[in-house]
Amino acid sequence: MLSKLLKICNSRQCTFGKPFEAIPGPRGPLGLGNLYNYMPGIGSYSWLQLHKAGQDKYEKYGSIVRETMVPGQDIVWLYDPKDIATLLNERDCPQRRSHLALAQYRKQRPHLYKTTGLLPTNGPDWWRLRSQLQKELSAPKSVRSFVGEVDAVTKEFLTFLESAGIGSVIDMLPKLTRLNLELTCLLTFGARIQSFSPEEQHAHSRSTRLMHAAETTNSCILPTDQGLQLWRFIETPSYRKLRHAQSYMESVALQLLEQNVQAGTGRSSLITSYIQNPQLDRMDVVGTAADLLLAGIDTTSYASAFLLYHVARHPDVQQKLHQEALKVLPNAQQSLSAGALRTDITYTRAVLKESLRLNPISIGFGRVLNQDTVLSGYFVPKGTTVVTQNMVACRQPQHFPNPLCFQPDRWLQQRNAVNPYLVLPFGHGMRACIARRLAEQNMHVLLLRLLRNYELIWRGRTDVDLDIVTLLINKPNAPVLIELRSRSA
Ligand code: HEM
Repeated sequence: MLSKLLKICNSRQCTFGKPFEAIPGPRGPLGLGNLYNYMPGIGSYSWLQLHKAGQDKYEKYGSIVRETMVPGQDIVWLYDPKDIATLLNERDCPQRRSHLALAQYRKQRPHLYKTTGLLPTNGPDWWRLRSQLQKELSAPKSVRSFVGEVDAVTKEFLTFLESAGIGSVIDMLPKLTRLNLELTCLLTFGARIQSFSPEEQHAHSRSTRLMHAAETTNSCILPTDQGLQLWRFIETPSYRKLRHAQSYMESVALQLLEQNVQAGTGRSSLITSYIQNPQLDRMDVVGTAADLLLAGIDTTSYASAFLLYHVARHPDVQQKLHQEALKVLPNAQQSLSAGALRTDITYTRAVLKESLRLNPISIGFGRVLNQDTVLSGYFVPKGTTVVTQNMVACRQPQHFPNPLCFQPDRWLQQRNAVNPYLVLPFGHGMRACIARRLAEQNMHVLLLRLLRNYELIWRGRTDVDLDIVTLLINKPNAPVLIELRSRSA
């Protein structure tokens, strides 16, 4: 009888649970919505500080919060890993409601795009793309095949940093953005765009413009996704910025794609494989090229910037990293092997994981429920937008002792004691980051190469911790200032 009841409860028809209306949370004055509370100079929340709004709602309302943004538009926020697991394990093409203005931009260009791309598309169109793209981007063997190229570019990056001056203070984020731009173009198109060269440092160079266009697009996503979406009727300033930025990124994607086709199939790259895939047509490939260019640059750069910040502040951690780096790279000139990355870098992995626990690049993940669901005992209807609050949850003492301290060793000692739905920097389930292994590999190589040769000294503020600005993804809120000291010296 009980199991029958549970079955019914888990089924699509589930109507058990406390009513949706009873979920605590802000509804705004007269129930007209809490959007006003995010307006600069009026409200106490900010789109640029979503983690603070998230923490505030958790303290006021508890581990599940229903926030009415405008009448008829609610967001349910989840902080409990049990609920997060229920949400992220949804079957049938999980849906996301984001990048809406980007989707509109692409829909208006049907000669170039067949779908709106992996980020905003939902349903069977999304799955058709995802199932064709993920083998090259996600399969361990395919990802490992890139180690040599990533290592070679990372070595060049160290030379680039050296040219900025060993012993002087380096503003790391713009440099890391160049590294990830270079890697994204190499792995996606098989193209070197020489973004470390002096000519490419200029404000009007292709790499500088690409870096700005990627950041501009990301920073326009939240303002266009939320609220009244006036851009659907008139061209708002945010939509215009996004259109200009996308138009530039698209022109470079087309240029690099054409270059790849002209060069033939000699050089292996993601796009080469996609062009050869009979299940994908040219428009699918163009959309994918634009998606990878957008998703690949700032994500890994911001994550790497936080990583270097934490490492620079912890000489004890650096010492252990250095020892591990010496094991896989006894000679600094030799190449890193894919085999060594697979087995011999346990501590390096723990350091990255701990950095992503404290500073994930997204505060959490959104889904539009594709079935009625019970969360924390409340009935939540199909079609509701639900967003997880992993960043806030990962900083709570009931989940991690000394939650605000950077302690990579916690991943070596109590690994199995941690709920697997807390630290999810790349999301989870069918819609998780398609490039997770690739991004992790790139950051492991960076850490090993850097710590093999240098000591990192934090030269930013020491009176306050580095915090974040939420530009869709979490960017450091201050320059990441680091001095490099050569270990051989
Ligand atoms: C540190 C680096 C990165 C982090 C932390 C990261 C994180 C994420 C997260 C959290 C999601 C959403 C997951 C979800 O909703 O469950 C996502 C999706 C995605 N990421 Fe990444 N990402 C990173 C790097 C990259 C790179 C380098 C690329 C491509 C070159 C990329 C491409 C994508 C794409 C295309 C999606 C959408 C997948 C889909 O909806 O099917 N990401 N990423």
